[in-house]
Amino acid sequence: MADYPTESDETLANLLHEQRRFPPEAGFSAEANATSSDYDMADDDRLAFWARQAERLDWSQKWTEVLDWSNAPFAKWFVGGKLNAAYNCLDRHVAAGRGDKVAYYFEGEGGDTRTITYAQLTHMVCQAANTLSDLGVTAGDRVAIYMPMIPETVVSMLACARIGAPHTVVFGGFSADALRTRIHDCDARIVITSDGAYRRGKAIGLKSAVDEALLDCPDVRNVLVVRRTGQEVGWTPGRDIWWHESVELASADHQAEAFDAEHPLYVMYTSGTTGKPKGILHTTGGYLTACAYTHWAVFDLKAESDIFWTAADIGWVTGHSYIVYGPLANGATSVLYEGTPDTPHQGRWWEIIDKYKVSILYCAPTAIRTFMKWGAQIPAKYSLGSLRVIGTVGEPINPAAYMWYRENIGHSRTPVVDTWWQTETGSIMISPLPGVTAGKPGAAMKALPGVVADVVDDSGASVANGSGGYLVLREPWPSMLRTIWGDDDRYVETYWSRFPGLYFTGDGSKKDEDGDIWLMGRVDDVMNVAGHRLSTTEIESALVSHAKVAEAAVVGATDETTGQGIVAFVILRSEAGDGGPEVVQELREHVAKEIGKIARPRQIMVVAELPKTRSGKIMRRLLKDVAQDRPIGDVTTLADSSVMDLIKAGMPGGAGGSH
Ligand code: PRX
Repeated sequence: MADYPTESDETLANLLHEQRRFPPEAGFSAEANATSSDYDMADDDRLAFWARQAERLDWSQKWTEVLDWSNAPFAKWFVGGKLNAAYNCLDRHVAAGRGDKVAYYFEGEGGDTRTITYAQLTHMVCQAANTLSDLGVTAGDRVAIYMPMIPETVVSMLACARIGAPHTVVFGGFSADALRTRIHDCDARIVITSDGAYRRGKAIGLKSAVDEALLDCPDVRNVLVVRRTGQEVGWTPGRDIWWHESVELASADHQAEAFDAEHPLYVMYTSGTTGKPKGILHTTGGYLTACAYTHWAVFDLKAESDIFWTAADIGWVTGHSYIVYGPLANGATSVLYEGTPDTPHQGRWWEIIDKYKVSILYCAPTAIRTFMKWGAQIPAKYSLGSLRVIGTVGEPINPAAYMWYRENIGHSRTPVVDTWWQTETGSIMISPLPGVTAGKPGAAMKALPGVVADVVDDSGASVANGSGGYLVLREPWPSMLRTIWGDDDRYVETYWSRFPGLYFTGDGSKKDEDGDIWLMGRVDDVMNVAGHRLSTTEIESALVSHAKVAEAAVVGATDETTGQGIVAFVILRSEAGDGGPEVVQELREHVAKEIGKIARPRQIMVVAELPKTRSGKIMRRLLKDVAQDRPIGDVTTLADSSVMDLIKAGMPGGAGGSH
């Protein structure tokens, strides 16, 4: 448990001084989906509450038991129930006469658009399901998806769900190596990709990365390729198949088969505290129930009239739960935007909101901080009057960003929901409920009805209001991860052994005087860079895999825009010379190649020594002080306390060189 609570000094200070409260407006509350009695109902009988939420779905066979926790921490929700996730997201809406309702307004980065109704989406998903079946994919087989933010990505996921083949979507910004390790880990036999993706006006190759990854994946039989950019691609006859020559010609006649509530829906890889990413397994019934409920309650979704936009990538859990499964299960209309916020201009998001009359926006604090830098005059040029709820996710939102968001985007009118959750939790766990809970800038507030969160001390005892500790979840919840793919022991060890009987989130947290929850950042070796989770160890492994590196230590230093920035300290091998700018650049690119551009260190410092305890553990806490230019903390446990002086001397402003 390194570092607690140094990282959260800023949050701590905010918490002490933050007095602003934004109670719900009466008009909003009168119409709100959620009510305060939802909390009471869930407190009275949590399982009955979740059973009621499961009624949001169509089950082809009803469950006999809400929760089987007899084999804890391996949960079974809605035991004996059967359903099809794709049917719940598509067919049932069409059958109910809502086939012409828009499921997605797709906005390409370059301004190309597509409007896709529920009937059309169902048609496309049935075609893709038939193609996958023709390729020999059967229930339980894993399919890897490595795609840009285009409708075919959603189609691919739902086609997998429809035939019971768990998907694993790998973020398109990850490297060929990262893709390969994920394909290996979950033993995917089919990959769905596109020729390329548009990124800031340029066509970036995705198929080329798949080709590179597959040099070492002999078990992958087929690659299904969507044409998006039209760029040249390498082609392996027999293995590679164009989407437009298969899916688009396939029959749209497909009966969805019902699967067990606990049938695996997908595996999503996320960083842990070791170098090896964890495949988080989500299953069908409980996950879909919680996505549907939270999407309805936290965003106050009115499916008939709202235009919902999660501005995140489908390659992350936020995209899975709140671009795909939650909104579609609720029959909502969403915006799907392919590109970056500044292509072709810095008002792109606000232009999209104005154009589609987006009423609910969900995004990451890092984006908000970027918009703050660009200036309020940019959103001011557009009408944002359609917005009625705005949310954030992925990292703590500092009060300044919260206020900027509230005032400049929400026009001091819309509730702001700061939602805390994780890849592992599958759906939002802690958030204000609009119309019910007051907002406090910087606080995630309260566990949702049916979720039991707590803050505990080192011994696992609940802390009093006004105190800090570790955030835990006391009771199982329907969208909880079921295990780490292929590694039950790591599942138990990572989440359930720190505090027996409690789910350990890895986050530091504090209850304020009212008992409301504030998040204080990770307490383990996981960084949060622009809302993306990265493990220090994973980047260290990437660095030491380079021939010129002898040793590496990585820390997350506070960064004004991205929350944390990656700072690496490396000891070079003697043959690398003195570590000139070329070596540093080479190492940054090496990490980008090994993991992906998001993992490229902001700064690499070449050092002669690393601070270690007598038992050889690197003291990242001290390196963080250096990276953040803070006075160096307690060095008494260092094996050689002069090391820190040496490192400091090499820093910018110090005697030596750095980069
Ligand atoms: O540290 C918390 C932070 O993001 C972590 C989860 O990351 P990931 O699994 O990638 O999922 C991100 C999207 C759900 C958490 O352990 N985090 C997430 N939301 C918040 C947050 N920290 C503070 N406030 C939040 N609202």
